Amino acid sequence: MWEKEIEVARQAAREAAIILNGLFGQVSQIEKKGEIDLVTEADLQSEKIILDIITRHFPQDSILTEEAGEFNHLSDRMWIVDPLDGTTNFTHRFPVFAISIALEVERELVLGVVNSPCSHEQFEAVKGMGAFLDGKPISVSRTKTLKDSLLVTGFPYDVHENPQRVMELFQKMIVRAQGIRRPGSAVIDLCYVAAGIFDGFWEERLKPWDTAAGAIIVSEAGGKVTTCEGDPFTPYLKSIVAANPHIHEAMLEALNS
Ligand code: IPD
Ligand code: CA
Ligand code: CA
Repeated sequence: MWEKEIEVARQAAREAAIILNGLFGQVSQIEKKGEIDLVTEADLQSEKIILDIITRHFPQDSILTEEAGEFNHLSDRMWIVDPLDGTTNFTHRFPVFAISIALEVERELVLGVVNSPCSHEQFEAVKGMGAFLDGKPISVSRTKTLKDSLLVTGFPYDVHENPQRVMELFQKMIVRAQGIRRPGSAVIDLCYVAAGIFDGFWEERLKPWDTAAGAIIVSEAGGKVTTCEGDPFTPYLKSIVAANPHIHEAMLEALNS
């Protein structure tokens, strides 16, 4: 199932990766959407090629994408696209960023493809079929406790206005975990949980394109994905805890303690 869709998502992610690799270290047009929220020609060119490819193959489908917004509200098939996750890293030449493409059908995630251009990694998952990195099956870690866990998180763009909540959660986790990282791409954070590199990820105030593809990749890799309150995850609920099933509950307890 979803064979044509996953092939189109793969193709779009690969073409976008070529564009981003070509512009890496070369960006000249950086605009600010907010005080620290950037958009560059790389975001826009990547988005354009992805939109062209998806609409050429599936002209009736809806698309929700970070920079251009939402198209074609009538379809119950919705592509959710982040053309460049990790824009701040990209502009500083820190090689951690990704392209993220997910498909939701009747509000259920059915596939996700994530391409990390600098590391040449492509993650993907189709509902019920498992998760893969470059064609090889991946699974979440087996770490049993938070004190043996390497966790990962991110900070929202309104952190200057509202640092208390972010720092509170960070403090609750840093005293319990073996270590915490903040690489700067929620999409990569999720895929590395799926691959068992990180044991768990949490973040608040995310957007659907930050989490949609990564969430299905984590679930298909055997991970558990909820909101920070423990509610069933959807990309529209803004907060996420994605972890191996052994530590997921402990993460929720710590975050809500
Ligand atoms: C951001 C990254 C970052 C996360 C932010 C996101 P962008 O996405 O995923 O890791 O902490 O909350 O907005 O703006 O680089 O696509
Ligand atoms: Ca993003
Ligand atoms: Ca983005």
